[in-house]
Amino acid sequence: MKVFIKTYGCQMNERDSESVLALLLGHGYLAAANEAEADVLIVNTCSVRGKAEDKAIGKLGLLAASKRKHPHRIVGAIGCMAQRRGTALLRLLPHLDFVIGTHRLDRLPAALDAVRLAAEPIVEIETSTGPRPDLAGHSPGKTSAFVNVLYGCNRHCAYCVVPLVRGEEWSRSMTDIETEVRHLTQTGVREVTLLGQSVLRYGVAQPVEENDDRLGSDYQTPFPRLLQRLQNIRGLKRIRFASAHPEGCTPELACAMRELPSVCEHLHLPLQSGSDRILAGMGRGYTSAEYVAAVARLREAAPDMALTTDVIVGFPGETTADFDATRALMDEIGFDNAFIFKYSPRPGSRAADWPDDVEDSEKRRRNQILLQEQDARCRRIYQRQIGRIAEVLVDGVSVRNAQRWTGRTRDNKIVLFDPAPDIIPGDQIMIRIESARAQTLYGSITESKVPCQCT
Ligand code: 5AD
Ligand code: SF4
Repeated sequence: MKVFIKTYGCQMNERDSESVLALLLGHGYLAAANEAEADVLIVNTCSVRGKAEDKAIGKLGLLAASKRKHPHRIVGAIGCMAQRRGTALLRLLPHLDFVIGTHRLDRLPAALDAVRLAAEPIVEIETSTGPRPDLAGHSPGKTSAFVNVLYGCNRHCAYCVVPLVRGEEWSRSMTDIETEVRHLTQTGVREVTLLGQSVLRYGVAQPVEENDDRLGSDYQTPFPRLLQRLQNIRGLKRIRFASAHPEGCTPELACAMRELPSVCEHLHLPLQSGSDRILAGMGRGYTSAEYVAAVARLREAAPDMALTTDVIVGFPGETTADFDATRALMDEIGFDNAFIFKYSPRPGSRAADWPDDVEDSEKRRRNQILLQEQDARCRRIYQRQIGRIAEVLVDGVSVRNAQRWTGRTRDNKIVLFDPAPDIIPGDQIMIRIESARAQTLYGSITESKVPCQCT
């Protein structure tokens, strides 16, 4: 039986899809190269905006319809929308074989067995919090891997559906994370990205380590302590994490980012709005001045820190003055990249009960303005890289141009370069940046081996 997974949404969903595939391969399934040759088609869905749900529903509708031609095909939904809508999804898509939420992906092999015998679709939605089944399987042959550290979210921002679907925060134990990362480095992984909706809250809601782990660490709070433990893993060259919240950007985090050589100078720090009034309405828990102060602390520790962000336009009550405050703040910070979203009311979130009072045409206008301004900012920042000699972790052959190889700088910029015979994926090399396009750098190798900084 061949299985294909189509993934929508964030890095966490990407990670879930990868671990689900590893789980199914362990149960004797094979990976399909494309949808057409698959016997089992799984759509991993996202709920964050209405459009994300519409896309997944459209896709599921098409796949379910394909069962008319391929009657033995199994089609089902997993992930956030599956969790949020549960059985209700079957009213919309009656030909689905299963709907499995975010909490019990470990049940997928059993559910697929049950589908073959059952007359009714299989639905597995669980809302309990607490320890999650650890799906630590990864695809082989990667240099870079995602690692879950914190599930769920306790912040309850007014616009956000995530806490409703992914549940209360639950942090994995430091030992489990360390074991997973050690194993990954033994299979050739050189870079990990630690994932959590609000990753700096790792270990805040519940303990994550044996009592004596604080001894011998230079840090008091769990997330920097986790970074320090991973820093000591032989073969791991880079550590990244996402997403951050200004509250967690403490002097101690800044210190850890400066002191731990594997921790990269890049942070995804969602701003959402530059207006204090809107930030308060969103329940973000910071003012624009506090956001600026968090950035200043990070940049003091690492002056070249690259910052990327998320912004929502057209939140209920957003006036042009609020919007202008966002434009001004984005300019002041000088983000390396930004994802701009039009506000979309999400059922069950607090803001869903408020009037969605910014016209769609106005949301679109604001969205376009921020995109254009960010594009210009991005070009300026990338142009400034020319002449710099950057440390690059080699990914491999570029998918767009087989003559070129690709890698990423520590501050997460893509670099294309001509390969050299002694270079393999996972190497750290030095590259002189010679030209730049909107979001790509081009350069040539100046040094093909950089000493490993791990201990
Ligand atoms: N409408 C629009 N954008 C949203 N996001 C989260 N919820 C909504 C919503 N209801 C955006 C935020 C978040 C990103 C993942 O998606 O900017 O950081
Ligand atoms: Fe990720 Fe949120 Fe979408 Fe779920 S709803 S896939 S957590 S972005």
